[in-house]
Amino acid sequence: MRVGVLCYALRHMFAAPSPFSLVLFGASGHLAQIKLYPALYILALKKRLPEQYAIVGFSRSAMDDGAFRSLVADAVHTHVPAVNESVLTAMLEHVHYYKGEYDSPDDFTALAKILKNLEKRWSGIVRLMYFSVPPSVFSAVGKNLCKGGVHTPEIPLRCIVEKPVGNDQESFQAIRDALIGCFREEEIYLLDHYLGKEAVRNIYYLRYANPVVETLLANALIHHVEITSFEAAGIEGRAGYFEHAGTLRDMFQSHMLMVASLLTMPLVETEQSIPKSRFGALKQFYLPPAKNLNTVILQGQYDAGEVHSSTVPAYQEEEGVATDSRTNTFIALKLLSRASRWQGVPFYLRSGKRLEKKETRISIQFQEPTEVGEGANPNCLHIILQGEAGMRLHLQTKMGGTNPSFRALVLADPLVCMGDCLPEHSLMILEAIHGKRHWFLSFNEVQTAWHLIDPLQAHLDEPTTALHHYPSGSKGPQEADAWITQQGVTWH
Ligand SMILES: NC(=O)c1ccc[n+]([C@@H]2O[C@H](COP(=O)([O-])OP(=O)(O)OC[C@H]3O[C@@H](n4cnc5c(N)ncnc54)[C@H](OP(=O)(O)O)[C@@H]3O)[C@@H](O)[C@H]2O)c1
Repeated sequence: MRVGVLCYALRHMFAAPSPFSLVLFGASGHLAQIKLYPALYILALKKRLPEQYAIVGFSRSAMDDGAFRSLVADAVHTHVPAVNESVLTAMLEHVHYYKGEYDSPDDFTALAKILKNLEKRWSGIVRLMYFSVPPSVFSAVGKNLCKGGVHTPEIPLRCIVEKPVGNDQESFQAIRDALIGCFREEEIYLLDHYLGKEAVRNIYYLRYANPVVETLLANALIHHVEITSFEAAGIEGRAGYFEHAGTLRDMFQSHMLMVASLLTMPLVETEQSIPKSRFGALKQFYLPPAKNLNTVILQGQYDAGEVHSSTVPAYQEEEGVATDSRTNTFIALKLLSRASRWQGVPFYLRSGKRLEKKETRISIQFQEPTEVGEGANPNCLHIILQGEAGMRLHLQTKMGGTNPSFRALVLADPLVCMGDCLPEHSLMILEAIHGKRHWFLSFNEVQTAWHLIDPLQAHLDEPTTALHHYPSGSKGPQEADAWITQQGVTWH
């Protein structure tokens, strides 16, 4: 019954009836081209956009409407297979460009006039401001949206702010203060695209819809939890960002902690309660007490090697990376939770770039109270979110013979999205148009995550903290295997 109600609510969330203007700051950028224009095209293709809408690109690069439309069309052709040209042509008629400076109030006044003109015959308008610029520019954009009159009391406005919100707690606070100075918190949508992935949301809904699964998630039954996110890709030309971020900030500060929170948060009756429960679970994570943080976290960096039969360079040989860079591209981290249901269960989180294959997976290994017999392995539930997505429950069954010996019995299903599936940015833009904030982050969540990450990052930044090198195409540094073995566990 609960699920039925939820499905009904979700289905009805997916149309986009009210006219909207979406201003995309950083319109010339990487994210806009690889994700956002394709996401908007998919919404147009799936008829989720209303008749009246405008997409206004804003950035400093010199372009007119025509050049910008070509950029959008190229991005869609590059990142979407089999484009429907008539849908794309129709969408491009809604696309406009304004060349402006992010720190110029006058340019925002001009933007406000453009929007007013575009919207003059529409009613029930919503304005979306998409911050697809580096975090250093967030505060200027926020302040000028108010100063320039884009933010007006009569038109609902939603700011979609890309992660990472800052680089540490201090820079996060500065961005939060600047945004809170202009907007109400309900107007700010902090976006972690992992939370737009159906497979990631499904971590929660698998529990919600299956009491059988939910009953198994209790500390008395669980030996440990592993959360692994491997990427085969390198930094894909984003050295400017990654050199200052590294894997701990890039992957753990939000994505990995969100996966852990969705697995451990208490179930709730209504969607509206999801953010509070998710935040509650996040707050419970803490670093195991340790004399030396090396027992809690380990870092690595990729060397040259072979990934999917292609030779790839070392991280330090990537364009824009310092030849002596100590930026981490691999992290293994141990966490504990104070939540009574999870008390004592170690969480081993691991993520890295240029590894053997792309895979994001939760592996829950259960306790084995007594030795079962020859060939037996502990029960394990794998929820594979990316890569060969699926759910696998590893049980064991007796082999024939007079002496009991065992073999694995694997119950498996490919967890592919079926039904109304949208790419993560399409779904999140649509939800923002509708004012649905449940799958966007709150400032509290971001702050809590930085609070956990900052001391770890400070430890990794110490010149004496080891940075273990690993060949591209491997499973990461050998030291990460030794590190987890010392904890009495092996990686799945
Ligand atoms: N790319 C990704 O895969 C990805 C993934 C997750 C999150 N994000 C986040 O999404 C946001 C946008 O990412 P992105 O990769 O598109 O970034 P980007 O390409 O580096 O920057 C986007 C645009 O912002 C403007 N810009 C860049 N640096 C600037 C600076 N220092 N001062 C003022 N303007 C600057 C540039 O446009 P103009 O010079 O034309 O103004 C640029 O085209 C960032 O916050 C990023 O962390 C990106």
